[in-house]
Amino acid sequence: MKVLTVLASPRKGGNTEILVDEMLKGAQQKGHITEKVHLYDCEILPCLDCRGCKRASSGYTCSLSDGMREIYARLEEADIIIFATPVYWYGPTAKMKLLIDRLRPYIASRKLAGKKGLVISPSEEGASCCGPLLQMFAMSFDYLGMVNAGSLLAKAYEKGEIKKSPEELERAKEMGRSL
Ligand SMILES: Cc1cc2nc3c(=O)[nH]c(=O)nc-3n(C[C@H](O)[C@H](O)[C@H](O)COP(=O)(O)O)c2cc1C
Repeated sequence: MKVLTVLASPRKGGNTEILVDEMLKGAQQKGHITEKVHLYDCEILPCLDCRGCKRASSGYTCSLSDGMREIYARLEEADIIIFATPVYWYGPTAKMKLLIDRLRPYIASRKLAGKKGLVISPSEEGASCCGPLLQMFAMSFDYLGMVNAGSLLAKAYEKGEIKKSPEELERAKEMGRSL
């Protein structure tokens, strides 16, 4: 199966990416094809609520022309989508929120329906602060008809700190193997 990660930390090699890479190693061990997109390298304009994507005449596609064109194609090809973001103010990073807002065409087209969605999120406080973030993803997956395949929440603050928690890295790899 194809596993796509949309990675929304501005820190390359930070805690989010380390956890993602472990999960993808596990997925690769099981023969899955994996791909990772750094959202901070992509131009993602904000949704303008033009509602063009709700019209059949647009083919239920977004009228904005930016880096999402490529990301839309990858999302549609994937069987499993990993949404990876550090916790910023009890929610996702702004870049992840830009991506989520731009998933609106899939409300009408249903092109994400049936795909599995997972969340990876490190934070300073750990799992206890992730309720709002998880609820947002769970409700959004449900609205899009996606299957909520769970989450990996971990406690880490400094860049790369998660490497000091081998049990978290193993947990990530095991989740990858079990996709
Ligand atoms: C703007 C900003 C807001 C943050 N908000 C929270 C927060 O609400 N709760 C928390 O536990 N950690 C918060 N953090 C800490 C990050 O989630 C944490 O450092 C994380 O490990 C960063 O992941 P990264 O290394 O992949 O960038 C915040 C960090 C930043 C820069």
